[in-house]
Amino acid sequence: MDIDTTAVNQRRHRFGEHEQVWLFGYGSLIFKADFAYLERKPASIRGHVRRFWQGSHDHRGTPACPGRVVTLAPQAGATCAGMAYLIRPDVFDHLDHREKNGYLRFSTTLAFDDGSQAQGLVYIADPENAAYLGPATDSEIARQIAAAIGPSGRNRDYLTELADALSELGTTDLHVQALVACLPPDSSTDTTDITDSR
Ligand code: BEZ
Repeated sequence: MDIDTTAVNQRRHRFGEHEQVWLFGYGSLIFKADFAYLERKPASIRGHVRRFWQGSHDHRGTPACPGRVVTLAPQAGATCAGMAYLIRPDVFDHLDHREKNGYLRFSTTLAFDDGSQAQGLVYIADPENAAYLGPATDSEIARQIAAAIGPSGRNRDYLTELADALSELGTTDLHVQALVACLPPDSSTDTTDITDSR
Protein backbone atom coordinates (compact mmCIF):
# COMPACT_ATOMS: atom_id res chain seq x y z
CA MET A 1 0.00 0.00 0.00
CA ASP A 2 2.97 2.29 -0.64
CA ILE A 3 1.59 4.84 -3.07
CA ASP A 4 4.56 7.24 -2.96
CA THR A 5 3.46 10.84 -3.41
CA THR A 6 7.06 12.15 -3.58
CA ALA A 7 7.12 12.92 -7.31
CA VAL A 8 3.62 14.45 -7.26
CA ASN A 9 4.57 16.77 -4.39
CA GLN A 10 7.76 17.89 -6.10
CA ARG A 11 5.69 19.10 -9.07
CA ARG A 12 3.04 20.82 -6.93
CA HIS A 13 4.81 24.02 -5.86
CA ARG A 14 7.31 26.28 -7.56
CA PHE A 15 9.24 28.19 -4.94
CA GLY A 16 10.91 30.56 -7.44
CA GLU A 17 12.83 33.15 -5.51
CA HIS A 18 11.14 32.29 -2.18
CA GLU A 19 14.03 31.45 0.11
CA GLN A 20 11.84 30.59 3.06
CA VAL A 21 8.46 28.88 3.41
CA TRP A 22 6.18 28.38 6.41
CA LEU A 23 5.13 24.78 7.00
CA PHE A 24 2.28 23.92 9.38
CA GLY A 25 2.78 20.76 11.46
CA TYR A 26 -0.11 19.11 13.30
CA GLY A 27 1.18 15.56 13.85
CA SER A 28 4.62 14.03 13.98
CA LEU A 29 6.12 17.29 12.74
CA ILE A 30 5.32 18.76 16.17
CA PHE A 31 7.33 16.22 18.16
CA LYS A 32 9.78 14.91 15.54
CA ALA A 33 11.48 17.86 13.85
CA ASP A 34 14.28 15.91 12.14
CA PHE A 35 14.95 18.69 9.62
CA ALA A 36 16.63 22.08 9.57
CA TYR A 37 14.41 25.07 10.31
CA LEU A 38 15.06 28.79 10.71
CA GLU A 39 12.32 29.47 13.22
CA ARG A 40 9.35 27.72 14.78
CA LYS A 41 6.33 29.02 16.62
CA PRO A 42 2.87 27.81 17.64
CA ALA A 43 0.19 28.41 15.05
CA SER A 44 -3.20 27.15 13.94
CA ILE A 45 -5.18 26.72 10.75
CA ARG A 46 -8.91 27.09 10.32
CA GLY A 47 -11.52 24.79 8.86
CA HIS A 48 -9.86 21.48 9.75
CA VAL A 49 -9.70 18.93 12.56
CA ARG A 50 -6.89 16.46 13.34
CA ARG A 51 -7.99 12.83 12.92
CA PHE A 52 -6.29 9.41 13.15
CA TRP A 53 -7.79 8.42 9.82
CA GLN A 54 -4.67 7.73 7.72
CA GLY A 55 -3.11 4.29 7.53
CA SER A 56 0.61 3.91 8.17
CA HIS A 57 2.25 0.99 6.40
CA ASP A 58 5.73 2.49 6.31
CA HIS A 59 6.39 4.23 9.65
CA ARG A 60 4.09 3.10 12.48
CA GLY A 61 2.81 -0.13 11.01
CA THR A 62 3.37 -2.60 8.20
CA PRO A 63 1.31 -3.67 5.16
CA ALA A 64 0.15 -6.70 7.16
CA CYS A 65 -0.64 -4.69 10.29
CA PRO A 66 -1.08 -1.01 9.38
CA GLY A 67 -1.04 1.63 12.06
CA ARG A 68 -3.03 4.85 12.16
CA VAL A 69 -1.57 8.34 11.99
CA VAL A 70 -3.10 11.78 11.73
CA THR A 71 -4.40 13.68 8.78
CA LEU A 72 -6.65 16.73 8.60
CA ALA A 73 -10.37 16.50 7.86
CA PRO A 74 -12.38 19.54 6.78
CA GLN A 75 -14.82 20.87 9.38
CA ALA A 76 -16.48 24.26 9.08
CA GLY A 77 -15.66 26.61 11.93
CA ALA A 78 -12.98 24.34 13.44
CA THR A 79 -9.44 25.35 14.33
CA CYS A 80 -6.48 22.96 14.45
CA ALA A 81 -3.52 24.01 16.60
CA GLY A 82 0.03 22.90 15.88
CA MET A 83 3.55 24.15 15.25
CA ALA A 84 4.73 26.27 12.31
CA TYR A 85 8.26 25.91 10.93
CA LEU A 86 10.04 28.40 8.70
CA ILE A 87 12.14 26.27 6.36
CA ARG A 88 14.18 26.57 3.21
CA PRO A 89 12.49 24.95 0.16
CA ASP A 90 15.19 22.29 -0.18
CA VAL A 91 13.99 20.75 3.11
CA PHE A 92 10.96 19.46 1.19
CA ASP A 93 13.22 16.86 -0.44
CA HIS A 94 13.48 15.18 2.96
CA LEU A 95 9.89 15.85 4.05
CA ASP A 96 8.29 14.68 0.80
CA HIS A 97 10.13 11.39 1.21
CA ARG A 98 9.26 11.08 4.91
CA GLU A 99 5.56 11.75 4.26
CA LYS A 100 5.30 9.91 0.96
CA ASN A 101 2.59 7.45 1.96
CA GLY A 102 -0.41 9.42 0.73
CA TYR A 103 0.25 12.99 1.89
CA LEU A 104 0.06 15.89 -0.53
CA ARG A 105 1.16 19.47 0.10
CA PHE A 106 -1.59 22.12 0.15
CA SER A 107 -1.45 25.90 0.52
CA THR A 108 -2.98 27.27 3.70
CA THR A 109 -3.19 30.36 5.88
CA LEU A 110 -1.35 30.04 9.18
CA ALA A 111 -2.52 32.10 12.16
CA PHE A 112 0.24 32.64 14.70
CA ASP A 113 -0.50 33.00 18.39
CA ASP A 114 0.73 36.64 18.30
CA GLY A 115 -2.16 37.52 15.94
CA SER A 116 -0.14 37.70 12.71
CA GLN A 117 -0.78 35.52 9.66
CA ALA A 118 1.24 34.04 6.80
CA GLN A 119 0.69 31.82 3.80
CA GLY A 120 2.31 28.43 4.03
CA LEU A 121 2.00 24.75 3.24
CA VAL A 122 0.56 21.75 5.05
CA TYR A 123 0.64 18.02 4.28
CA ILE A 124 -2.80 16.40 4.11
CA ALA A 125 -3.75 12.81 3.28
CA ASP A 126 -7.19 13.05 1.71
CA PRO A 127 -9.78 10.27 1.35
CA GLU A 128 -8.71 9.57 -2.24
CA ASN A 129 -5.33 8.12 -1.27
CA ALA A 130 -4.88 4.35 -1.16
CA ALA A 131 -3.66 4.28 2.46
CA TYR A 132 -6.69 6.18 3.80
CA LEU A 133 -8.60 4.29 6.49
CA GLY A 134 -11.20 6.87 7.53
CA PRO A 135 -13.37 7.09 10.63
CA ALA A 136 -13.94 4.29 13.15
CA THR A 137 -14.96 4.21 16.80
CA ASP A 138 -12.44 5.46 19.36
CA SER A 139 -12.02 1.97 20.78
CA GLU A 140 -11.43 0.44 17.33
CA ILE A 141 -8.84 3.10 16.43
CA ALA A 142 -7.10 2.68 19.81
CA ARG A 143 -7.08 -1.12 19.42
CA GLN A 144 -5.48 -0.81 15.99
CA ILE A 145 -2.89 1.68 17.29
CA ALA A 146 -2.02 -0.56 20.24
CA ALA A 147 -1.37 -3.52 17.89
CA ALA A 148 0.80 -1.73 15.32
CA ILE A 149 4.54 -1.26 15.17
CA GLY A 150 6.69 -0.22 12.21
CA PRO A 151 10.18 0.95 11.23
CA SER A 152 9.69 4.25 13.10
CA GLY A 153 8.52 2.57 16.29
CA ARG A 154 5.34 1.70 18.13
CA ASN A 155 2.14 3.32 16.94
CA ARG A 156 1.05 3.83 20.58
CA ASP A 157 4.21 5.90 21.19
CA TYR A 158 3.26 8.13 18.22
CA LEU A 159 -0.14 8.71 19.85
CA THR A 160 1.19 9.41 23.36
CA GLU A 161 4.06 11.60 22.10
CA LEU A 162 1.57 13.63 20.08
CA ALA A 163 -0.74 13.92 23.12
CA ASP A 164 2.20 15.12 25.27
CA ALA A 165 3.33 17.61 22.61
CA LEU A 166 -0.20 19.05 22.30
CA SER A 167 -0.46 19.36 26.04
CA GLU A 168 2.88 21.24 26.09
CA LEU A 169 1.39 23.58 23.49
CA GLY A 170 -1.58 24.15 25.81
CA THR A 171 -3.98 22.66 23.26
CA THR A 172 -6.95 20.46 24.07
CA ASP A 173 -7.71 17.94 21.31
CA LEU A 174 -10.65 15.80 22.38
CA HIS A 175 -10.10 13.22 19.61
CA VAL A 176 -6.50 12.60 20.69
CA GLN A 177 -7.42 12.55 24.39
CA ALA A 178 -10.23 10.05 23.76
CA LEU A 179 -7.86 7.70 21.94
CA VAL A 180 -5.27 7.86 24.74
CA ALA A 181 -8.03 7.04 27.23
CA CYS A 182 -9.06 3.99 25.14
CA LEU A 183 -5.53 2.55 24.81
CA PRO A 184 -5.19 -0.84 26.49
CA PRO A 185 -2.50 -0.98 29.20
CA ASP A 186 1.08 -0.93 27.90
CA SER A 187 2.38 -4.45 28.53
CA SER A 188 6.01 -3.34 28.08
CA THR A 189 5.78 -1.25 31.26
CA ASP A 190 4.12 -3.97 33.33
CA THR A 191 6.13 -4.12 36.57
CA THR A 192 4.32 -7.08 38.11
CA ASP A 193 6.88 -9.37 39.79
CA ILE A 194 6.02 -12.79 38.38
CA THR A 195 8.60 -14.46 40.67
CA ASP A 196 6.65 -13.56 43.78
CA SER A 197 3.96 -16.23 44.12
CA ARG A 198 2.81 -15.34 47.66
C1 BEZ B 1 2.35 16.98 10.33
O1 BEZ B 1 2.75 16.80 11.47
O2 BEZ B 1 2.00 18.10 9.96
C2 BEZ B 1 2.29 15.89 9.37
C3 BEZ B 1 1.60 14.78 9.70
C4 BEZ B 1 1.55 13.75 8.79
C5 BEZ B 1 2.19 13.86 7.59
C6 BEZ B 1 2.86 14.99 7.27
C7 BEZ B 1 2.91 16.02 8.16
